[in-house]
Amino acid sequence: MSKNTTICRCSDISKEEIRELISQGYTTLEEIKRISRAGMGPCQGRTCGQLILREISSITGKKMGELENFNNRPPAIGIKISDIVKGAEENGKNC
Ligand code: FES
Repeated sequence: MSKNTTICRCSDISKEEIRELISQGYTTLEEIKRISRAGMGPCQGRTCGQLILREISSITGKKMGELENFNNRPPAIGIKISDIVKGAEENGKNC
């Protein structure tokens, strides 16, 4: 994998950029996420999370098992249309 390899496709962040952040002292996935937006794309880090952890592990010498993954924060919860209609009917409104 070259230094120009894209690690986070959603946010277009390269391996070199991730390694630079780690060398600046951002050594957790959450710190890297907040400073670079890696892991905030549509896949929510499913693609890049493990790759970033591997870079953190290789630079800091920590084992992969010692590193914390992203905190899962789903952007939204699906709501059935029938539940919306039911709620409107209960409040005396027509849909
Ligand atoms: S590849 Fe990083 S958030 Fe999708």
